[in-house]
Amino acid sequence: MSDTEAIHSSAFVEVNYDDKIPNNVNLNSDKQLQRALEEWQPQYLDWWQEAGPNCFQDADVYLRTAVGVDPKGWAVFDHVKMPEYRWGILLAPKEEGRTIPFGRHKGEPAWQEVPGEYRAILRRMIVVQGDTEPASVEQQRFLGKTAPSLYDLRNLFQVNDEEGRHLWAMVYLLVKYFGRDGRDEAQALLERRSADQDNPRILGAFNERTPDWLSFFMFTYFTDRDGKMQLAALAQSGFDPLSRTCRFMLTEEAHHLFVGETGVGRTIEATVNAMNAAGIKDPYDVEAIRKLGVIDLPTLQRKANFHMSVTRDLFGSEISSNGAELFSAGLKGRFEETRIEDDHVLADATYPVMRVKNGEIVTEDVPALSAINSRLLDDYIKDCQGGIDRWNRTIAKAGIDFQIKQPHKGFHRKIGEFAGHHITPEGELISAEEFEARKNEWLCTEADHDFINSLMKACYEPGQYASWIAAPRVGINNKPGDFEYVKIYESDGSAA
Ligand SMILES: [Fe+2]
Ligand SMILES: [Fe+2]
Repeated sequence: MSDTEAIHSSAFVEVNYDDKIPNNVNLNSDKQLQRALEEWQPQYLDWWQEAGPNCFQDADVYLRTAVGVDPKGWAVFDHVKMPEYRWGILLAPKEEGRTIPFGRHKGEPAWQEVPGEYRAILRRMIVVQGDTEPASVEQQRFLGKTAPSLYDLRNLFQVNDEEGRHLWAMVYLLVKYFGRDGRDEAQALLERRSADQDNPRILGAFNERTPDWLSFFMFTYFTDRDGKMQLAALAQSGFDPLSRTCRFMLTEEAHHLFVGETGVGRTIEATVNAMNAAGIKDPYDVEAIRKLGVIDLPTLQRKANFHMSVTRDLFGSEISSNGAELFSAGLKGRFEETRIEDDHVLADATYPVMRVKNGEIVTEDVPALSAINSRLLDDYIKDCQGGIDRWNRTIAKAGIDFQIKQPHKGFHRKIGEFAGHHITPEGELISAEEFEARKNEWLCTEADHDFINSLMKACYEPGQYASWIAAPRVGINNKPGDFEYVKIYESDGSAA
């Protein structure tokens, strides 16, 4: 995070911050697009009020706003009211002479317009990505009421506002490049609702509840990381406007992952500190640990198991003809495609995929093209490990014998090769009956959730933190420990 209060980008297209819709895409020169987006904007604000953060709409929140795309400085920090946040349209700078980096069109100039033959699948891909952005805001709608500190409250709202901007980013692509259909899709993105019976969000994990702050931190660590992987794959796209849009979104995404990693990390820190202060060494002495007002490590593991498994489902079927076509068509690449050393066409290549065959978990080489999703999932699982290792170091340093682990890839899966099978976190294939009988060892029970909920009490005093979470090491934008990240007023409906 930058230590400068306000930095403006200079080397790139000037962003007019006073525009109704701040942008670096020269919106003023495309009147039709501008009009379409200005028509969409009030509906977006209606959605924000109806489905975005509950209460706090009058609060002054210390938010970062993207005002440019210069890697050296692209953000300003200031107290703003959330509905007045400047949701803008920002694309990473155009790389002159960029070519399509993979697939059957490899080496051809990147597309600046939608290639006619791929119009439908490209649109679908953008809609699916776009749908996740408002969905997470909806899932997190009620968390403000139980924020463990003003610092965390601010981070929640920062993430929410930026997910809103990511929706803008996808809507820009739909409206600019897909005409009438694009406008209809932009509309539908404001109409679906997370967990709505009749009109839910498209992907499963985005219809789950985010009922408490531990869920929020797990979500931002594990599920926003799916976002990172998807954006990284789309940033490789031969459709250049999509690539440039996603490249800039990744910059913001890094903060969401930071919120998740440090949120879980600080939860662990509070737990091990309280255990040590009380002289408790056994992490399974759950009753005694819970009495200290902190979350025991086995519960944290069960919670992580849930979030990891539902997020892995977001990668789709490991073996997928759709994934193969998106790759071959040059629309969606692999993670860090340009750094992979192969021919980037994969006509004859294979990739090892884990699957269940004849009652056994085996690894089989399959055509690499059809295993694109599987590879992205494997890269995701690797990417998850760094933060988990850091959490484990906190536990080890405190002298407590416990490690957070990633469950087996097949644990608790509903989509793909492992759907319909019952696999323990250790990777043992068991019967449905046994899984049912033992699932409380691996996933949170209602009693666990009741306990977590009992800790979820708001703490709005500057510099104060709820019992179950430690203070952060550094403030946002290097602000001091007692900084008032959110100024809450009576009109926010949150004082009670
Ligand atoms: Fe996002
Ligand atoms: Fe995110």
